[in-house]
Amino acid sequence: MTRAVRRKSMTAEAEATEGRPFSTASLDRGLRVSHTVRDDFPILDQEVHGKPLVYLDSAASAQKPRCVIEALREYYENDHANVHRGVHSLSQRATFAYERARGKVKMFLNARDTREIVFVRGTTEAINLVAQSYGRKNIGEGDEILITEMEHHSNIVPWQILCQQTGARLVPSPIDDRGELVMSEFEKRLGARTKLVSVVHISNALGTVNPVEEIVALAHARGVPVLLDGAQAAPHMPVDVQALGCDFYAFSGHKTYGPTGIGALYGRAELLEQMPPYQGGGEMILSVTFETSTYNELPYKFEAGTPNIADAIGLGAALDYLAALDRGAVADYEHNLLEYAEHALREVPGLRIIGTARRKAGLHSFTMEGAHPHDIGTILDHEGIAIRTGHHCAQPVMTRFGVAATARASFGIYNVREDVDRLVAALHHVRRVLG
Ligand SMILES: Cc1ncc(COP(=O)(O)O)c(C=O)c1O
Repeated sequence: MTRAVRRKSMTAEAEATEGRPFSTASLDRGLRVSHTVRDDFPILDQEVHGKPLVYLDSAASAQKPRCVIEALREYYENDHANVHRGVHSLSQRATFAYERARGKVKMFLNARDTREIVFVRGTTEAINLVAQSYGRKNIGEGDEILITEMEHHSNIVPWQILCQQTGARLVPSPIDDRGELVMSEFEKRLGARTKLVSVVHISNALGTVNPVEEIVALAHARGVPVLLDGAQAAPHMPVDVQALGCDFYAFSGHKTYGPTGIGALYGRAELLEQMPPYQGGGEMILSVTFETSTYNELPYKFEAGTPNIADAIGLGAALDYLAALDRGAVADYEHNLLEYAEHALREVPGLRIIGTARRKAGLHSFTMEGAHPHDIGTILDHEGIAIRTGHHCAQPVMTRFGVAATARASFGIYNVREDVDRLVAALHHVRRVLG
C-alpha cells in the first residue's frame, strides 16, 4: 500500500513540538521510509469480513497511534495514583504527568497560560460548562445566543437548556446551498441582544471550514464573546487561539488521535476568573465549612473530583505525536486527499455530495439515488470499509438539505488514495446491488 505522511522521529519533547518541514512530495519518497504514519496505528492492520480494513470514520472517532496506547499502559503499570493531594512518589509522578499533559494542550492551542486549559470529557462537556457557568451568570431573559444552522447537537442543546432556564433565545444563522455560512445574514443577527456567539470551526456533517477569524472580529467589534467548537478542526489544522482571538475553544481527545473520555476547554483567563464553578466537589475548593466554601484557582475551580488522569496523559502523547509532524503540511496532504476523493466520488452515478463549500476539510457527506445511507454503510462494511451513516448529530443540517440521513466518509492522517479507490469501487458495487 502507498505510504502516507512520513512521520518524523520523536526523541524529545522540545523536538516534538518544533514541527519540521514536510511536503506531499514525501509521498513519492514514502516507500523508502521505514516508519510511516500508517504503521503507527496498529488497529488498521486487520481484516473485516475477510477484506483489509479501510477506516473512513475518523470524524466520529480517530484511531490511536501506538505511542498513545503505550503511554496509557506505562502510566497504569508504573505511575498511577490520585493527583494533587499526595506526598508519596507515585502521586507526585501522576501529578507531574497530568500537569505536563495540560502544558501540551496549552502548546497545542497556543494558549497563553496553563490556567486557561480545563480538562473535560470532550467537546460536549466543554460547551455545557460554558453554557452553565458563563451562560447562567451572563445571559438572561431576552438575550440571544447566536449559532449557525450547521451546528452539531452539542452546540445546540446546551444552549436550549440555558434558554429554558433563563428566558434567553437561541438564534441560528442560515447556511446556503453549498453549506457555507451566509455572512451577511450572520451579521444581521449579531445585534444588541446577542450575548454570545457559538460556532463550529469545521462542520462534522458538511466539512465546511467556517471563516472563524471574521466571525470573531465581527462579534468582538460588538463586544460579544465567541466560543468555537473545534471538535473537527483540532485533528485537521493547526489551531492558535491567540491568533483566532476566540474567548473559548473546545475539542475532544478521541477525535485528535487521543483516548476517549478526555478533551479540553480553552477559556480566556479573564473570563474563566469571573465564572462560577460548573460542578462542586473535591479538587475545586481551597477550604470548606458547612457555611461556605472558597474555590480553588484556575483551572482547578472547573475540575471537580478525581480527574481522568490516564486519558489526559494519553492525550498529551497524541498531541506530541501530532506536534512531531508538520501540521501545515499534514493539512495540505489531507486537502489533496479530500480533492482526490471528491473527483472520484463525482464519477459514481447518482451520487450527490452534500456540502460543497469552497473551504472544506476532513470529510465528504453524500447520498445515492435509490440507496438508503444505512444500506450503503452495511454493504461497505461487508467490503471492509467503515463509514458513518445517519444524521451525524446534526439534524438541522439534514433538514436544511432535505435529506433524512447521509453517508459520510471522513479521513485521518493515516488514509491514502487506495482507501478512496476502495471506497469508490465499493460504491459502484452498491449501485449494482441496489440499482
Ligand atoms: C462538530 C462537533 N462538535 C461536537 C461534537 C461532540 O464531541 P464529543 O462527542 O467528543 O463530545 C462532535 C462529535 O462528533 C462534533 O463533530
